[in-house]
Amino acid sequence: MAILKVANLGNPILRVPSDPVKNIQAPEIQRVIDDMLETMREYRGVGLAAPQVHRSLQIVTIELDADLGAPPAPVASPTVLINPRIVPATEQSEEDWEGCLSIPGLRGKVPRYTDIEVQAHDRRGRPLNFTAHDFFARVIQHEYDHLIGTMFLDRMKSLETLTFLEEYGRYWARREDAE
Ligand code: NI
Repeated sequence: MAILKVANLGNPILRVPSDPVKNIQAPEIQRVIDDMLETMREYRGVGLAAPQVHRSLQIVTIELDADLGAPPAPVASPTVLINPRIVPATEQSEEDWEGCLSIPGLRGKVPRYTDIEVQAHDRRGRPLNFTAHDFFARVIQHEYDHLIGTMFLDRMKSLETLTFLEEYGRYWARREDAE
């Protein structure tokens, strides 16, 4: 396995739609998945999409901390979604903070659907159909966006909450705790 270089905002690969994976079982695809998992853990991300590591392929990896909730059965953790499709399962959306390994040091509030239906394949090629809620749904929507060339900045209703991590800790984390 290998830790891969993460593409940062401005790299054109983050702005083009990625290709569907044709042969999930192919050794080169399995290696990309293993490398993505290792890279995601190295940089302490909760999710990673293949374009972020210079692979224009429809692959997403997600691993939530235990306190953020486990994915719904039968979805494994870490979660690997290949060729995912998502549709909202509600009209309700919520704003909350997001960051991105490709936009280091910044956070912003992003509206996301609270419930989504997900269709994908797992890393063995088995079909997955499930409903995701809340934070898990947020992460899937964020990572899915990477597969269509969209960044969380594009989804912000306003850039007013765009915040450096230090200022987030100083002004926002404390205020949110007090609420
Ligand atoms: Ni991201």
